[in-house]
Amino acid sequence: MQERWDHYIGGASAAPDSGCYIDDLDPRTGAKISEVAAGNAADVAKAVASAKAALPAWRDQKPIERGRVLNAIATLIRDKAAELAELERSETGKPGYMAQIEIDIAAQYFEFYAGLVNVVHGDNLDLGPGYHSYTRREPFGVVGVILPWNAPLNQAGRAIGPALAAGNTVVAKPSEFTSASLLEVARLAVEQCGLPAGVLNVVTGTGPDAGAALVEHGDIRKVAFTGSVPTGIAIGRIAAERIIPLTLELGGKSPNIVFDDADLEQAVPGALRAFVLNSGQVCLAGTRVLVQRSIYEGFVESAAKMLETFPVGPGDDALLGPMITKPQYEKVQEYFKVAAGEGARAVTGGTIAEGETLGDGWYIKPTIYADVSNDSRIAREEIFGPVAVAIPFDDEEDAIRIANDTDYGLAAGIWTRDVGRAHRVAAALEAGQIYVNEYPAGGVETPLGGYKRSGYGREKGIEALHHYTQVKCVTIKL
Ligand code: NAI
Ligand code: MG
Repeated sequence: MQERWDHYIGGASAAPDSGCYIDDLDPRTGAKISEVAAGNAADVAKAVASAKAALPAWRDQKPIERGRVLNAIATLIRDKAAELAELERSETGKPGYMAQIEIDIAAQYFEFYAGLVNVVHGDNLDLGPGYHSYTRREPFGVVGVILPWNAPLNQAGRAIGPALAAGNTVVAKPSEFTSASLLEVARLAVEQCGLPAGVLNVVTGTGPDAGAALVEHGDIRKVAFTGSVPTGIAIGRIAAERIIPLTLELGGKSPNIVFDDADLEQAVPGALRAFVLNSGQVCLAGTRVLVQRSIYEGFVESAAKMLETFPVGPGDDALLGPMITKPQYEKVQEYFKVAAGEGARAVTGGTIAEGETLGDGWYIKPTIYADVSNDSRIAREEIFGPVAVAIPFDDEEDAIRIANDTDYGLAAGIWTRDVGRAHRVAAALEAGQIYVNEYPAGGVETPLGGYKRSGYGREKGIEALHHYTQVKCVTIKL
């Protein structure tokens, strides 16, 4: 890891206006490994000016030319996958296998949207004789992208891929905890992939200093944000004042419903992976496991046994790495106290993970609580750690009722062998993505976004591409 990271603006590194840097820590040890520029409104202004200057040429070229550049970025990410995964491992502590998968998905986003550049097209509208009317899908202009830390380059590609494909230019603000991989890709994209300077700029720093300044800047025409509900609300207020569109992806408390006709050989490990993935620091984690009463006790017992075999630690063989930051580590422990106060039974876990190999890292034992009411805080609030609650239900109707009894609606899982039931329940669930007999399922093609307090707008798939365009209608009297 290099000693210090500056912003990347207009095709060059740029030292922060403040002269200050933020410590970059390795969650596996808590030790400082680097530092990143503490951005402010002046840095944001510089980046937005550069994105604005780069806009006309990027927007007005043949779409296929933009696609060529995006394809080159995908290839570059694959060529540098090992180094990029290592950067992300140092900043997130995530297991090697996880970092590699995510880097590959980041490449897939650029590749997928490269292939879709010509899909940004309008329609012909038939107004009868004497008129010719058509729509054009045009980019917004300079788009602001505010990213979280849980899957840094993956989430960057998910927003930046479609934004650039549609002809926008971008100023991205990665999480202050995970800026390295995007800074590296932005630089290499300009130096090696033919991305014109200024089309993709990266300003690092904290949310209140750099993130808020980006949303407030008068030349930002759209914002995409992934992160917490309170931050989403704060950004939403500014966007409302400015009347700019917003994509909000705000996480959830997703139900994962196991019916008694499910293949339990698949459903038990599947339901566990669904919430321990990335140590539970995943927006669509299946953290409310709803289990049909007839199989509830057996399910919970075998789930607990299996969770105890999941390796936690810094090593290559670990399934779970650490929490991203000390505050996140403490937040999860606070919820352990809440759970105890609510009378939940920790069938396994409910504590931090300690041991010789774990040192001072921020590790949590994979945890499942039984005897939990869906009204309790641990069943309603996003914990963002490897923690799930198991709640029994009686029948299909009961399962749907409990599943939908939540403020959120990002994802939901169904485990059943009954195909009719799978479709019925999928239609009844209030969530943007539904998985049947695998969790999560899908790829860069499958649109993702929230119902209710999980947000609005859609990422991934062709949907996202449309979210980065605005429609103009032209009508001509012939
Ligand atoms: P956060 O929402 O505060 O941070 C996400 C991004 O927003 C970061 O880049 C941050 O710098 C930026 N940000 C923060 N405040 C801002 C502001 N006022 N204006 C503009 N940008 C701002 O999330 P945080 O505090 O890191 O995590 C807290 C909780 O949020 C987690 O425990 C989890 O429940 C949830 N979360 C959900 C994620 C998801 O994938 N949906 C990702 C990260 C966190
Ligand atoms: Mg925050």
